[in-house]
Amino acid sequence: MNTSIEALLNDQIKYEASASMHYMAMASWADTKGYNGIAQFFYSQSEEERVHMIKLIKFVNERGGSVVIPALEKPKASFESLSELFADFLKSEMFVTEQINHVIYECLNKKDYNVHNFMQWYVTEQLEEEAVARTLLDKLNIIGDDKSGHYMFDRDINTIAISDDVEA
Ligand code: FEO
Repeated sequence: MNTSIEALLNDQIKYEASASMHYMAMASWADTKGYNGIAQFFYSQSEEERVHMIKLIKFVNERGGSVVIPALEKPKASFESLSELFADFLKSEMFVTEQINHVIYECLNKKDYNVHNFMQWYVTEQLEEEAVARTLLDKLNIIGDDKSGHYMFDRDINTIAISDDVEA
């Protein structure tokens, strides 16, 4: 495997791991605030990012590359509002998309079509995740500071996210 591509895939392993821990901290914060639906949503997002990370680890190992399991920074643990929580979620997904696009760009540059092909799964995944994050943030912007709106958002979050997924 091209060493610069290998380094980029290792960076990507770190970003996925970091997103997983970031969402775990979000889930835990929501849990302590009584938002059980939002907590479940982020626990499962955290698990998805972990799966993204493991898929990359296995791929690099299978291709004879060397994986570096990264040290991570402590994720942000408290949020001023649900809007801040979901704005952070969208920001995180946009960052990951940017990095994936960068890997793909470099794969084309280095003519590594095998990795390029593998990364297409991540492109599709990111499209869906960004769409879900945007929809949820849009709904929160409509709700504003209305407490009963927050109650319903927490109750219905999975339906909102899934209905967006179907549209996407
Ligand atoms: Fe695997 Fe949503 O980044």
